[in-house]
Amino acid sequence: MKIYKTRDYEAMSKKAASVIASQVTLKTDSVLGLATGSTPVGTYKQLIQWYQEGLLDFSDVTSVNLDEYRGLSPENDQSYRYFMNHNLFDHVNIDKNRTYVPDGLEKDSEVACRKYDEIIERVGGIDLQILGLGHNGHIGFNEPSDCFEKTTHCVDLTESTIEANKRFFEKEEDVPRQAYTMGIQTIMKAKMILLLVSGEGKAQILHDVICGPVTPNVPASILQMHPNVIVIADEAALSKIK
Ligand code: GLP
Repeated sequence: MKIYKTRDYEAMSKKAASVIASQVTLKTDSVLGLATGSTPVGTYKQLIQWYQEGLLDFSDVTSVNLDEYRGLSPENDQSYRYFMNHNLFDHVNIDKNRTYVPDGLEKDSEVACRKYDEIIERVGGIDLQILGLGHNGHIGFNEPSDCFEKTTHCVDLTESTIEANKRFFEKEEDVPRQAYTMGIQTIMKAKMILLLVSGEGKAQILHDVICGPVTPNVPASILQMHPNVIVIADEAALSKIK
């Protein structure tokens, strides 16, 4: 694990965008594993700016997103498809037909998950996976559990995740209780992983992820076993690591 400490969220976002930009520059047909949440928003903004300045080209890039709420349509402004369109895809020259997000409207969870795994297989796996970190150590929507789930699966969101994510919804009742998420094995097969963490509120969990035991109770702790992980975190998030 390589850990880079930045002054603040802005600097974290710029550094993360540089890593993604070099990936896309060196391998124009990269498969990017993308994340939602507030953490990568600044990174996506920076990528958009560099694209607008003519420094980046996404025309051959493919993307696969980590997760999607079960039951939300792509038009729902809380769906992760909507988030990706709004925060990145609509502003760069990526071919939207090559941007994949699990199908939140597929009611049959086995079908939804199998189809998503087939897509990831078909595009040849992930070159660079971007990850945020849940307050309980989740990555994608792989919630703390007594085992690591391997492939795409349907999860029941924990109360703490519902609590953390309700800020994006009008009412807590509107937060979906389930989601489809890429599994841990799929994430771990990515050639390179970029974990982004910001803010004091994540300091303890980031400490546990990096310094604690590898356990499915802290899903992101599995990243200790990956040969090519870059952590970019701000001072506040790294404040509990000596
Ligand atoms: C959601 C997403 C995760 C994300 C996490 C952290 O639950 N499923 O992929 O990493 O939130 O979100 P934030 O970056 O807003 O703290």
